[in-house]
Amino acid sequence: MDSALLRINNISGHMTRSCPMRREFGGQQFQQQGTAWSLINSGPCVGRASPIKVLVTGAAGQIAYSLIFMIASGQMFGPYQPIQLHLLDIPKMADALKGVSMEIQDGAYPLVHSVLCSTDVQSAFTGVHVALLVGAFPRGPGMQRKDLLKVNVSIFKEQGEALGKYASRDVKVLVVGNPANTNALVALTKASELPPQNFSALTRLDQNRAASMVSDKVGVNVDNVSNVIIWGNHSLTQVPDVTHAIINNYPAAGLTSPALSTINDDKWVSESFMPLVQNRGAAVIAARKLSSAASAANAIVGHMRDWLMGTKQGEIVSMAVISDGSYNVPKGLIFSFPVTCRNGEWSIVQGLKISQSIQQKIDITTKELQEEKETAFSFL
Ligand SMILES: NC(=O)c1ccc[n+]([C@@H]2O[C@H](COP(=O)([O-])OP(=O)(O)OC[C@H]3O[C@@H](n4cnc5c(N)ncnc54)[C@H](O)[C@@H]3O)[C@@H](O)[C@H]2O)c1
Repeated sequence: MDSALLRINNISGHMTRSCPMRREFGGQQFQQQGTAWSLINSGPCVGRASPIKVLVTGAAGQIAYSLIFMIASGQMFGPYQPIQLHLLDIPKMADALKGVSMEIQDGAYPLVHSVLCSTDVQSAFTGVHVALLVGAFPRGPGMQRKDLLKVNVSIFKEQGEALGKYASRDVKVLVVGNPANTNALVALTKASELPPQNFSALTRLDQNRAASMVSDKVGVNVDNVSNVIIWGNHSLTQVPDVTHAIINNYPAAGLTSPALSTINDDKWVSESFMPLVQNRGAAVIAARKLSSAASAANAIVGHMRDWLMGTKQGEIVSMAVISDGSYNVPKGLIFSFPVTCRNGEWSIVQGLKISQSIQQKIDITTKELQEEKETAFSFL
């Protein structure tokens, strides 16, 4: 399909439109005070807000079918930030992509100023400020892990090069397509013009799954559970860790309790909680005959919102980012760490105590990532 620009609103006209109403999401104020990325307009904005270009790859796929509409409604960048959507998929999905763009148009979203639908990498990546790399080649029946890696290396190599050549120099990249950590590493390696800190991979879905399980176990609402950590790879070797998790407003409003002592059931933590989080993706596939999509989209929104708007005071989230050697993880792996975010930058939380049993599991996921890296780099 030739690139087609669907103009939903007149971009040059947006300056004169009145500012969208302030909205709140999930009962919380959207932005953290004074912590947003400089490109995001996080306050009432008439006449000031320039649209940011947001790329979604795999835009005709399942996750994108939830994600794009969450972005369009302001859930990722807030109610004051206009956007120009760049949607990329492969040529055989061109008709489906056209259908998605028709639905965006029919949604009449005030924040969406234009939609570019494309099957051409260069036009899709040009000038983008945020790149959500969702599209990837799925594992087919009988396909070996190594073969899957090979196909995906070729996709993320091309997309990394395109980021380096055509994207905004500020671009923030989130890789979702699996194997997400290693795909992100490939893209980052091929985009040597860009800072490695601009790349991340998604483990927020694992974090959300873990927080939900803890909230069920303790009997509190999920927004009272914070600082659950996912270490390592977005795979079966990931390490869900509740050692530093907190239950807020428990046992009474205004109080906090450590999750481990509140749960008070070590057997549940090691024998139920950890394997359930690790295997949750497979359980959803078994039930739905399709992989997690709406929950993945919600996790992508949470990851980007925290990265660009800032994490709440005292809150730790998990993002797979380039290792700087923290916690003895070898430098140069994309590894899920506990982070906080401010002004569009993440920082790895330092000095957390790691138990021996968690350390053993971190060693296993580290080894898996090193092996994936070696295999992937042999295809570069
Ligand atoms: N990291 C996570 O937490 C997480 C969670 C859920 C799913 N995933 C992964 O996200 C990916 C997408 O999942 P989905 O359910 O939307 O899959 P899907 O198969 O429904 O959609 C994928 C889309 O990507 C497109 N695509 C393939 N190659 C492409 C390329 N080179 N350029 C652009 N588009 C391309 C496909 O045509 C398809 O439309 C999968 O790899 C899945 O395993 C990751």
